[in-house]
Amino acid sequence: MKGIILAGGLGTRLFPLTKITNKHLLPVYDRPMIYYPIETLVNSGIDDIMIVTGGKKSGDFLSLLGNGSDFGLKHLNYTYQVGEGGIADALGLCEHWAGKDPICVILGDNLIERNIKKAVGDFKAQGKGAKIMLKEVHDPERFGVAHLDGGKVSSIVEKPKDPQSNLAVIGIYMYDNRVFDVIKTLEPSDRGELEITDVNNWFIKDESMTYEVLDGWWTDAGTFESLHRSAGLVANGGANKTD
Ligand code: G1P
Repeated sequence: MKGIILAGGLGTRLFPLTKITNKHLLPVYDRPMIYYPIETLVNSGIDDIMIVTGGKKSGDFLSLLGNGSDFGLKHLNYTYQVGEGGIADALGLCEHWAGKDPICVILGDNLIERNIKKAVGDFKAQGKGAKIMLKEVHDPERFGVAHLDGGKVSSIVEKPKDPQSNLAVIGIYMYDNRVFDVIKTLEPSDRGELEITDVNNWFIKDESMTYEVLDGWWTDAGTFESLHRSAGLVANGGANKTD
């Protein structure tokens, strides 16, 4: 399985912190934000990784990460997203690189306390379709929200005003290689982006979507409040635990 980290976008919710750098290069306690999703993939046994960068400071990813030796890697792959076309648009750039392999996608601003080793193993065994990870949150209106029905995800609504559950769809997704054909059928949402939620709803309709509820804490770090909270969570016990 190949891993993809989405670290493009303009980070407008963190302006002016992102005026002269990319959001994913900002510090979260003792490391740049991008270190956390790389560790998450490496800890799950994925060592073939593509980083989708963007913005004016994309060259800094190469200076910071090189070939990934800080993570025990021999090589890292990079590609560039122009503008802010959304998560699914960024993912679409990886089609030629991914080939026929299944992929594990992680948003560059998502941090977890533990690891996704079991979920990755379960998805390999599933062999086809997609898998998402869910987590109970107190503010579901900020996220994609999953509705469950009979032990399955029946739909996902992106940032609902009136959420029907408190289960957020976190930014870790696993797909078979049909995902790239699905992305080509998407239309931009009201925020002008190709939404990963539309991709996930396609796999739900295809009846090939599974889910797991994540153990331990999860946070994004894309707003002032969540960036601040992330640093506290890491400082008070650490992220990406392997046990
Ligand atoms: C994105 C996804 C959303 C998901 C969230 C996780 O939101 O669109 O479904 O719950 O990441 O961090 P965004 O950060 O683009 O607002």
